This record gives sequence, structure tokens and C-alpha cells, in this order.
Amino acid sequence: MNKGSFLMNQEAYGRKLVDMRQIEKSVQYLIGSGMDPRIENNPYLGFIYTSFEERATFISHGNTTGMTKEYGDLKLAQVCGLIASDEKRHETAYSKIVKKLFEVDPDRTVVTFADMMRKKISMPSHLMYDGQDNNLFDNYSTVVGVDCQVSKIKKEVKN
Ligand SMILES: [Fe+2]
Repeated sequence: MNKGSFLMNQEAYGRKLVDMRQIEKSVQYLIGSGMDPRIENNPYLGFIYTSFEERATFISHGNTTGMTKEYGDLKLAQVCGLIASDEKRHETAYSKIVKKLFEVDPDRTVVTFADMMRKKISMPSHLMYDGQDNNLFDNYSTVVGVDCQVSKIKKEVKN
């Protein structure tokens, strides 16, 4: 569990905002089903993938910040905002690494980038399940706007 997940988990648990039993069930299902970011132990694929993944988490936490503000939960909005700013820093760091790869090894980087775009960026938790909702990740990503944003990024990259 990363720092952002831990903070959100503690906030949700401490304030009884969600059904923690369902959260823990979904975590266990996620561990059991694993993740497939399609990076094949290739660090170039890993850095390219992570640049997009960090952007998506920045966007989702940013959108959640807006929603929690809208519903008047300023404490939770502050937590989401802190996590969003962390994710932005992560995106910046990984993007700088990819930029450097394009500088020092442009041929391999552009071929790897094209490979990643063909495979598409699947969020690591796209296999998320809570034992009840077969479309849990899709429903979640629709609410927080991640799927739309990743699709938009992919369109921008194509053009
Ligand atoms: Fe991150």
C-alpha cells in the first residue's frame, strides 16, 4: 500500500466513511488477481507506463478533491488534494525520465513508446473486484473520470 492509499484508508476507516469490510475484500481480491500493466520487465515500458499511470492517479484524486468539496467534506478534500499533489510530483519525475530516454536513446524509446500505445495503458487495478460488483473498476473510473482522461491522453498522443 502506498502513502496515498494508506492516508485515504485511515481517513475512511477513522471517520467510518465507507464499508471497510468491502474495501478489505476488494484489496484481497486485487492481490489475488494480480496486475498486468504489460511492461514485460522492460524498464522503458515501465517508465512510459508509469508516466501515464501517475497522471491518471493525479487526475482521479484531483477530481475526487472537487467532488468532496462539492459535497462539503473539506477535510476529505484536503486529504485528496494532498494525494493529488503527490501524484503530480510522481508524474513529473517519471515524465522527466522518459524525456531523458528520448534524448539519449531516441530510436529504442520511440519504438517502445509506440508499443505501449498499441497495448494501451491499462490501470493496474483494472482487475479490481469486491465480491459483488463485476464492473467495479469501470464504475469507479467513470465516477472519478480516469478512463475518460486516459482516453483523451491517448488521443492527444496520436495527433
Ligand atoms: Fe504515484
